[in-house]
Amino acid sequence: MNQTEIQANKEEYINIFEAIIKRDGSKDLLNFLKTSDFFTCPASTRFHSAEEGGLCFHSLNVYKRFKKNLELEYGENYVDKISDESIAIIALLHDICKVDCYKVEYRNTKVNGEWVKQPYFAYEDKLPYGHGEKSVYMISGFMKLTRDEAMAINWHMGGFDTRVIGGSYSLSNAFYEYPLSVIFHISDLEATYIDEKLPN
Ligand SMILES: [Fe+2]
Ligand SMILES: [Fe+2]
Repeated sequence: MNQTEIQANKEEYINIFEAIIKRDGSKDLLNFLKTSDFFTCPASTRFHSAEEGGLCFHSLNVYKRFKKNLELEYGENYVDKISDESIAIIALLHDICKVDCYKVEYRNTKVNGEWVKQPYFAYEDKLPYGHGEKSVYMISGFMKLTRDEAMAINWHMGGFDTRVIGGSYSLSNAFYEYPLSVIFHISDLEATYIDEKLPN
């Protein structure tokens, strides 16, 4: 992504956020994102969208996938099932746990027989609260989430969630009770593995 694309994604994100999310506290939350590295940080250290602006780009991709999947599942009147505001909140904020966690470090690598310093993203979480649960916790510091929103954000990693890998059965109970969470998890997967690329 070049700087023009990074800036365009930032504008698109802020436009959607301001037009659709009106809940008490949402303005402060957006201001927090603007002062954090949300619009410039990557979405991962080595995998999908591991580049400057990756997290914002990923959030927009997930938002588009989520809307598409909701329409596929519930038809064009899907807003009877879930409001536009909930859709935007879940998708645009599900990964804010990654904010202020990436930093650029350098390592020596041999290129054509010569040692050169290569930049890479290191991950250092100063608030190690988990992943989906951390996003829920951070958002809740600014505004209230509905049960559907909290469940979808909390369990968006699906079977990759470390709690599930550790043996928790909560995920499948959550997915049975909150089908929007299933649809959202799939949207996150599709954005990650289909819409976004691995770094070269
Ligand atoms: Fe995530
Ligand atoms: Fe994600």
